[in-house]
Amino acid sequence: MRLEIPTSAERFGANLFYKVQKIYELDGGHGVDSEFESRYHVIQQIPYERIHEIEKDLAIVIPVKDERLRLLEGVLCGIPHDCLPIILSNSKSEPIDRFRMERSMVDTFCRYAKKKYIIAHQRSPEIARLFLEGGYPHLIDEEGLVRHGKAEGMLAGIALANLAGKKYVGFIDSDNYFPGAVFEYVRIFSAGLSQGKTPYSMVRIQWHSKPKIVENDLFFAKWGRVSRITNQYLNQFLGHFTGYETEVLRTGNAGEHALSMPLALSLDYSTGFSVETHHFVSMMEKFGGVMPAPFPEIMKSGVEIFQIESRNPHLHEVAKGDDHINEMIEYSLSVLWHSAICPANLKTEISTELNRLKIIRKNASPVKLRQYPVLSDIDFEAAGRTIDWSQHGNYIPA
Ligand code: GDP
Ligand code: CO
Repeated sequence: MRLEIPTSAERFGANLFYKVQKIYELDGGHGVDSEFESRYHVIQQIPYERIHEIEKDLAIVIPVKDERLRLLEGVLCGIPHDCLPIILSNSKSEPIDRFRMERSMVDTFCRYAKKKYIIAHQRSPEIARLFLEGGYPHLIDEEGLVRHGKAEGMLAGIALANLAGKKYVGFIDSDNYFPGAVFEYVRIFSAGLSQGKTPYSMVRIQWHSKPKIVENDLFFAKWGRVSRITNQYLNQFLGHFTGYETEVLRTGNAGEHALSMPLALSLDYSTGFSVETHHFVSMMEKFGGVMPAPFPEIMKSGVEIFQIESRNPHLHEVAKGDDHINEMIEYSLSVLWHSAICPANLKTEISTELNRLKIIRKNASPVKLRQYPVLSDIDFEAAGRTIDWSQHGNYIPA
């Protein structure tokens, strides 16, 4: 890949939030191009060999809930061969057993492609046992199973990726219509992670555009309603601490993102669809230096957050309704509002915004969402003993 060097960044404590990087070539070529030896380049080449090195250590978690099988198959097709897909499903088993259909499609697909993979149902007793034996009961509900929700599935995916020995973990939604876009996202994850100068890095994708039909014409929208609002308040949050107004954060709701495993295990998480915005809250709280730092070694080495703009338009399943949009807005803003370091004036602005959108009543607080502590609390050795890998696709960790 050939892309902009991440030049400017906002620093908040140990966090470096880089500005969005633009891609020039999706394939940067083999070997190292000597044209890039000059220090004055603003573009860098990430050679194919370097991308490939990361891909071997990268698990791609695909959360699924009752999506069309064809879409899921397209997503699988877009994942580079050397990455390990981990399909984490919360699909219905009644009246039709959707999970069984997914399982059989994925088994066949990966057998034909000779692809290694892991598949699990979020609500299976075995996944619950993994967390219980690992001494991390926080995800488990009254039925003794992992709670419903996208974040909950993602956390199960991170745990499996770590048990599978992967050094990086990325996320791709299963409702994407373009395998080519999925392929690009994963390449961006590897290119982004390869820039990390510390063991703690994250890559978030800013979608190039989302095609829509407006008055019988295709219109390529840049910002969705949710991301426009989330990013605005996220930047105000950051600006409060740096003392400078900023627009650097563009990826507050990035479902497509990847993390180095040490960073993934050091964040705490928020439930359901608030998980992506909460990454920022967790990093600002834990590594911002405003609250006591739980991980001194991370404060020393620093955390790098890269944001990269994809070139493919993003087209996913759209018929999910206005309620879903409002819920996303409330969830994203609620994690900012409830942060222990959220400034009082920002809380007022957020409440006013949510009231204006008719999401909460005047002077009411946004919902307080369930949170999960850092995954490094899991005893992975004990958790690993509970997993019968032969039941979960065809990947047996070395
Ligand atoms: P949006 O794209 O942000 O509007 O949200 P989607 O409804 O498309 O959800 C994002 C992804 O998470 C999709 O791949 C869903 O199938 C998946 N998903 C949603 N809820 C759950 C859940 O409870 N568990 C799991 N494992 N996946 C979920
Ligand atoms: Co979607």
